Amino acid sequence: MPAVGASLPRKDALDKLKGVAKYIDDYNFSDILHVVTVRSQHAYGRLINIDKTEAEKMPGVAGVITASQIPGVNAVPLVFNDEPFLAEGFVRFHGEPVALVAAETLEQAQAAAALVKIEVEPLKPVLSIRESLAADAPRIYKENNTFSHFRVAKGNAEEAMKTAAHVFEQEYETPYQEHAYLETNGVIAVPGLEDSMTVYGSMQCPYYVHDAVVAAAGISKNKARVIQTTTGGGFGGKEDFPSVIAGQATAVAKIFNRPAKLIYKREEDIIASSKRHPGLIKMKVGTDEKGKIVAAIIDYYVDGGAYATLTPIVLWRGTVHALGPYECENIHVNSYGVATNKVPCGAYRGFGSPQVIFAGESLIDEIAVALNIDPLEIRRTNGYKLGSKTATGQLLDQSCGLMETIEKAGERSQWASKWQKPAERQGNIRRGIGISSVYYGVGLGAGGKHLDRVGTSMTIMKDGSVHCAIGNVEMGQGARTVLAQIAADALGAPFELVNVVETDTSMVPDSGPTVASRTTFMSGNSLMLAAAELRPRLLQVAAKMLDAASIADVDLIDGKAFLKNQPDKKQIGFKELAEQLYVCRLMPSAFGWFVAPDSSYDNETGQGNAYFVYSYSTNIAEVEVDMETGEYKVVRITSAHDMGKAINPQQVEGQIEGGTLQGLGYATMEEIRHDGNGRMLNNAFATYILPTTEDTPEIDPIIVEHPYDRGPYGAKGFGEVPLMGIAPAISNAIYNATGVRIRKLPVKPEKILGLED
Ligand code: MOS
Repeated sequence: MPAVGASLPRKDALDKLKGVAKYIDDYNFSDILHVVTVRSQHAYGRLINIDKTEAEKMPGVAGVITASQIPGVNAVPLVFNDEPFLAEGFVRFHGEPVALVAAETLEQAQAAAALVKIEVEPLKPVLSIRESLAADAPRIYKENNTFSHFRVAKGNAEEAMKTAAHVFEQEYETPYQEHAYLETNGVIAVPGLEDSMTVYGSMQCPYYVHDAVVAAAGISKNKARVIQTTTGGGFGGKEDFPSVIAGQATAVAKIFNRPAKLIYKREEDIIASSKRHPGLIKMKVGTDEKGKIVAAIIDYYVDGGAYATLTPIVLWRGTVHALGPYECENIHVNSYGVATNKVPCGAYRGFGSPQVIFAGESLIDEIAVALNIDPLEIRRTNGYKLGSKTATGQLLDQSCGLMETIEKAGERSQWASKWQKPAERQGNIRRGIGISSVYYGVGLGAGGKHLDRVGTSMTIMKDGSVHCAIGNVEMGQGARTVLAQIAADALGAPFELVNVVETDTSMVPDSGPTVASRTTFMSGNSLMLAAAELRPRLLQVAAKMLDAASIADVDLIDGKAFLKNQPDKKQIGFKELAEQLYVCRLMPSAFGWFVAPDSSYDNETGQGNAYFVYSYSTNIAEVEVDMETGEYKVVRITSAHDMGKAINPQQVEGQIEGGTLQGLGYATMEEIRHDGNGRMLNNAFATYILPTTEDTPEIDPIIVEHPYDRGPYGAKGFGEVPLMGIAPAISNAIYNATGVRIRKLPVKPEKILGLED
């Protein structure tokens, strides 16, 4: 395989490096309107009146749009369709879009927006999970303020807990996390002939946006087209939110029959776009004398915010993964997506898992310490191996590399010589080491199986270059490069000649979202199916040109066709093959449609084969703590991952580095603060503190390959995993250094010193 497995350079690197890549705000259209959003200044209230008279008199203003003017339906199509494009009747979070001002210039739109008067009768907002679940809480969503409830059940956890030798019970809390992609959310909607609408934008899920454009415009699907522009990061944050602004821009474009541009400032992006859900996790785990887990009872709550958006599916993923990668015959998990009057939460790299992973990996560390077992050893004892069964009863019959990630991370970090009991640590500056292990279902799983299919359109051009339109997006993660590697080898084309283009909904049918670490696996497989159709045609042409009796006698590798038994005699280049393909009038295009391997889940029994395959990882963190000030530094992260096959090892390492830094932010500093009225206090990068290069530890990436037989060249999924285990590894290292256990992220010096909960 000339391309697969090689650290080939990224297709998009040079343009991004030179600054010539065009992001959505770089696009313009003649006659364009600039759109500014008017937002609720209340977390909860009855919407009494919107007075737009003064605003509409302002220079350059085309008009002010409110809910009743939306041409189609005022509901963002996502799971429950409960979020309006513009508030109607009630406002449900501080910052919720209420009206849109469209004007000739951005400045004119901003000036007019300040004059739109929103009259609200304030109601008492619900601002936390605990408040929302209290018996006397205001009813803000249906009868119990709960969007969704899921369960996992196996064996009899209550009974097994009674007979366990040791029982451990703790509560953990995790904060919001803001994606902080470099490019804020933005779209441009362009009305066309015959009632059509084309939307360009920064996004992860063009097909979700397509649904939103159709809903807001009230047009049929074949009249709407969504074209993804170069996207400056997503991390889950551009899964749901682009649908909101695409629908809004579509409404404006349709009403005024002019292109409408809606680009968020950083402050409004932080206030109004989705975040990682805050989590509350109650864990009870029983073990035998030797630390083998025999029972687990877990209650998991997430703060969904004002609308359901993606909460149900985020919650389901977290429910299934609640105990982490450990065998347990008696387990009972209950999970709840809770409504509050705050910004709706959605996807963020890990999708409901980092919360429960922090809890589970902290508690297993506590168990190890209490039972005087090496934390690495307790993971070896309990961790998934080939033949293990998951919490939902799924047999892991292949591609389970957890143990190797534990061994490799342990060796490379010199765990055995560095780990010692905290009591033995001395002095003001103390070093500590901590470990965590993670497993992660690839793809949408049983919870989203009906969306788990992907299309590809592949065309060999007359000059030998290969054009691939795919159903997943490049958002900075390297998909266009990795998928070109897979396509090149599957076809026998040189990597340089293969181009995978940004997603356009008119080229490939609905391929679901670009999330859940599914792109390499799903689009990769889809490309392989298309290539498998085209390759015999190329071989047919080659056989003729090489005077071979049959196509079985010829081979095609890396753009060269040759006779199998005389590879050096004569070679035909890919360009020549392509020319002859057209001369012979063979069809130069093929379509791939890949459907995910089966998965199943029954919420009544709490059992099923939740995901078709899992990726595994182990992280080991080393910290250095100043015992006087509580300040600390993460010195080193050793990060071992089984992703089946590293299609591009350098990009795998890049993912490990990026994910580690996001995980470090989650662990050590990131948090959103609100005032008592539900107003977000830190909506800027000056106040929402993120890790920078200054905070970057030494990162030691380790690739472990346990191939999956359904994966393209054995690959599973990988994008999200590097973030997920970092927080507990760091927190466990802090405990190891200081003897202080932090059960509420982020781990701040104040908490280490006991000055803050
Ligand atoms: Mo991803 S967090 O599944 O968009």
